[in-house]
Amino acid sequence: MPQDVYDKIMMLCKRRGFIYPSFDIYGGVAGFYDYGPLGSQVKNNIENLWRRFYVLKDGCIEINTPIITLYEVLKASGHVDEFTDLTVHCGKCKQFYKVEDILEKGVSVEEALKKNLLRCPRCGMVLKNVSPVNLMFSTKIGIGEGRKAFLRPETAQGIFTNFHFLYRFAREKLPIGVVQIGKGYRNEVSPRQGIIRLREFSMAEAEIFFDPTNKTHSDFEKVKDKKLFLFDNEKEMKLSLREAVKNKVVDNQALAYYMYLTQEFLLSAGVDPKKFRFRKHAKDELAHYARECWDAELFSERFGWVECVGIADRSAYDLSSHIKSSGVDMYALRRYDKTKTVKKKKIVPNMSTLGPLFKEKAGRIKTLLENIDVTSEVDEISVNIDGEKIEIPKDCYKIVETEEKVSGEKFIPHVIEPSYGIDRILYMILEHNYMETKKKEEEYRVLRLKPGIAPVKTGVFPLVNDDKLVEIAKKIDNDLRDAGVITYYDDSGSIGRRYARMDEIGTPFCVTVDHDTIVDNTVTIRDRDTTRQVRKKIEDVVGYIKEKIGFLV
Ligand code: ATP
Ligand code: GLY
Repeated sequence: MPQDVYDKIMMLCKRRGFIYPSFDIYGGVAGFYDYGPLGSQVKNNIENLWRRFYVLKDGCIEINTPIITLYEVLKASGHVDEFTDLTVHCGKCKQFYKVEDILEKGVSVEEALKKNLLRCPRCGMVLKNVSPVNLMFSTKIGIGEGRKAFLRPETAQGIFTNFHFLYRFAREKLPIGVVQIGKGYRNEVSPRQGIIRLREFSMAEAEIFFDPTNKTHSDFEKVKDKKLFLFDNEKEMKLSLREAVKNKVVDNQALAYYMYLTQEFLLSAGVDPKKFRFRKHAKDELAHYARECWDAELFSERFGWVECVGIADRSAYDLSSHIKSSGVDMYALRRYDKTKTVKKKKIVPNMSTLGPLFKEKAGRIKTLLENIDVTSEVDEISVNIDGEKIEIPKDCYKIVETEEKVSGEKFIPHVIEPSYGIDRILYMILEHNYMETKKKEEEYRVLRLKPGIAPVKTGVFPLVNDDKLVEIAKKIDNDLRDAGVITYYDDSGSIGRRYARMDEIGTPFCVTVDHDTIVDNTVTIRDRDTTRQVRKKIEDVVGYIKEKIGFLV
C-alpha cells in the first residue's frame, strides 16, 4: 500500500525520536503515544509559545490542579451525565464503534436506524443497539470504599473550582484569565486515527471570566481590522473582527478577540494559513455547557479538517452549577459608584435546628440559604445539593427585613474558553511543514519548522575530524548552549549527510568550521530553507543565531 504523508511523518517521528507508540514492546495500545527526545522538545516549545500568547501577552494567570478529580466536581459540571459518545456494538465482530465515525455525513441517527443504514464497517451487518457511553476513566481515592473519582476529561474544572480563590488573587476585578496546561483523559470508544485521537492527551486551556454585561476586550481596538478565516458550514469568508461582531457572526468582542489570538498563535507556531479555518458549531453540535462555539480546524491529508482548538462561550454554566452543588459563594461583585442603602428580605439560618438536622451538609445549606434572593412571599424554601432537592423546614430559618449598605450587586461571571489540543497541533505543524524532494536519487526530507518550534536550533560541525577544527567547533557549540540555544554537535559522516540529518528534524541553522576558520576566524552558517551559506566571525555566531531565532521558547 502506498504510504500517505501521515505514514511518512509517523515513520520519521519514530526513527528520529519525536514520537513512539506507547507500550510498544507489548504490542502498543490505541490512543497512547510517547514523546521521544525531540518530540518532547517540540511539545515544550509549543506550550511555551502558547504561554507567550496567553500569560505574557494577554496577562492570564497559570495554575496547576490534580488530574484525579472528585466525582462531585464532574457530577456538578455535567460530565457524569452528559459526557458521552453514542456508541454501537457489532456482536459478530465484537467491536464497538462511535456512531459518528460510521454514520454517513448528513444522515441523522434516527434516519440511519430507520433505514438500516448503520452497518458494521468490517462485516456489513446492520447495527441497531445504539447507546450513549461515558468517556471518562473512573477510579477511586483511598482504599476500601474510598471516594469516587475520575481522570479529568478537561483541565477546565480545576480552574472553575478555584474561582473564589482566583477572584481574590486578582483583587476582585474582572476580566480574569486563568490558564492550565496539562493532561486530559478520555476513554475514546475506538480510536483509529493515530495521534489525532488519543486517550491521554495534552490540553492548554484558558478560562476567561467576564462580567456578562461587558464581554469586551481591552485590546480589541488594536486588532479590530485584522481578518479572521471563518467557515459557517457553507462558505469560507474572511471577515475583520469588527465586521464579525457587528454582523453577529461572532457573538461578542471577547469571543472574537480570543479567536484572533488563537489564529495568531497557530500561524506563529507554523500552521499553514491555507490549511486553517474557524468553523462555527451548529446548534445541535454544541457541548452541554456551550452557548456558542468555534473550532479552529486544521487540514491534514489523511483526516481532512480536524478540530484542534475549541473556543466556546460557556456562559455562567459551570460556576452556577458549582455554586448550586457546593454551596460555596463563588459570585463576583459589580461595584456601585457609591454604596447604597437597600431594604432587603434576608434568610437568616437557625443553626441550632439546621445543624442537628442536616449534620455535615448544614454548612453548605447555610451558605445557599443566605444567598437566596427573597424578593416575593415564599411558602417553602429548598436548596439543591449534589443534584438533590432538599426542602428546608420552617424552623430552620427566619425571613427578616433589613436595611443594608451594599457596595455592589452579586453576579455569576461568564466564561469564554479557548481549549487547545497540543498533540493535534503538534502533528499538524509537522505535516504542514514536511517537504520531500529527491537528492541524488534518494528521498530528501526537510521539516521547515519555525526556529522557535524546532527541537534543535543549530547543528555544529567541524568539516573534517581535525583536532584544531574540532576544538573550535566544540567551543562554538558550548557558547551557543551557554546562551540557551539547543545545539547538536556532529562530526561523523559527510557534511552532506550531516546537513540532511539536521534538515530532517527541522534544525534551522548549521554552523560549519572549516580550514578557512583557522586563517580568518570565520565559519559558515547555513540556512535550512534557502540552503544558502554566509560567513560570519566566530564571535558573532551566538548573536547572529539568537537574532535569527527571534526568541527562545
Ligand atoms: P472531537 O470532536 O474530535 O472528539 P471534541 O469536540 O471532543 O473533539 P473538545 O472537547 O472541544 O474536543 O476538546 C478540546 C480540544 O482537545 C480539541 O480541540 C482537541 O484538540 C483536543 N482533543 C479532544 N479530544 C482529543 C483526543 N481524543 N485526542 C487528542 N486531542 C483531543
Ligand atoms: N474544556 C473544553 C473541552 O473539554 O471540550
